Amino acid sequence: MSVVQTIVVALWLMLPAYVPNNAAVVLGGGTPVDFGREWRGDRILGDGKTWRGGAGGIGAGFGLAVLLNAAVTQGYVPEFIPTFELRAAFALALGAILGDMGASFLKRRTGRKRGAPFPGVDQLDFVVGAFVVTALLAPEWFFAEFTVEVIVAVLILTPLLHVTTNLIAYRLGLKDEPW
Ligand code: CTP
Ligand code: MG
Repeated sequence: MSVVQTIVVALWLMLPAYVPNNAAVVLGGGTPVDFGREWRGDRILGDGKTWRGGAGGIGAGFGLAVLLNAAVTQGYVPEFIPTFELRAAFALALGAILGDMGASFLKRRTGRKRGAPFPGVDQLDFVVGAFVVTALLAPEWFFAEFTVEVIVAVLILTPLLHVTTNLIAYRLGLKDEPW
């Protein structure tokens, strides 16, 4: 695969993991995942992680993967574009949401209040979550599609994309902070 093809495949494969946290910003609210409980004097996760945001995010990521598969089977995209095993589609979205929650857990343990930035962690938490959960739930698909080249492309491109989309969400008034 050419470098351009590798980049296109990397972004395509990660779309079901990119969308959940952005969808959670729009769909979130209501009961927090930790039900307001504390641990060691601070919230377990905080009010920024809600059931509605999590479930809506997973649904959005999974739904997008189904649409992307349809685009492939309808022949709308080039031959080198892969499809998602449904189990992998679910795992990518679930992992992204869990990775983001894991980061909030770490933020609360390190004294960071809701919305405080955590450089590096904010940009890659959902990538690590998506990789780990998909490698566990759909290992054959994961290791066939996520070659070393694709993983390197994801790790370089994701922080750039993340910074850009969050800045846009902030400017649009959807997010309280630009990270
Ligand atoms: N959100 C949600 N449920 C989630 C993730 C996000 O409802 N599982 C919504 C919340 O309204 C949250 C917003 O999306 O405030 C922005 O998400 P994020 O930046 O991840 O949360 P923060 O509020 O910054 O909280 P934290 O410091 O824990 O990251
Ligand atoms: Mg935040």
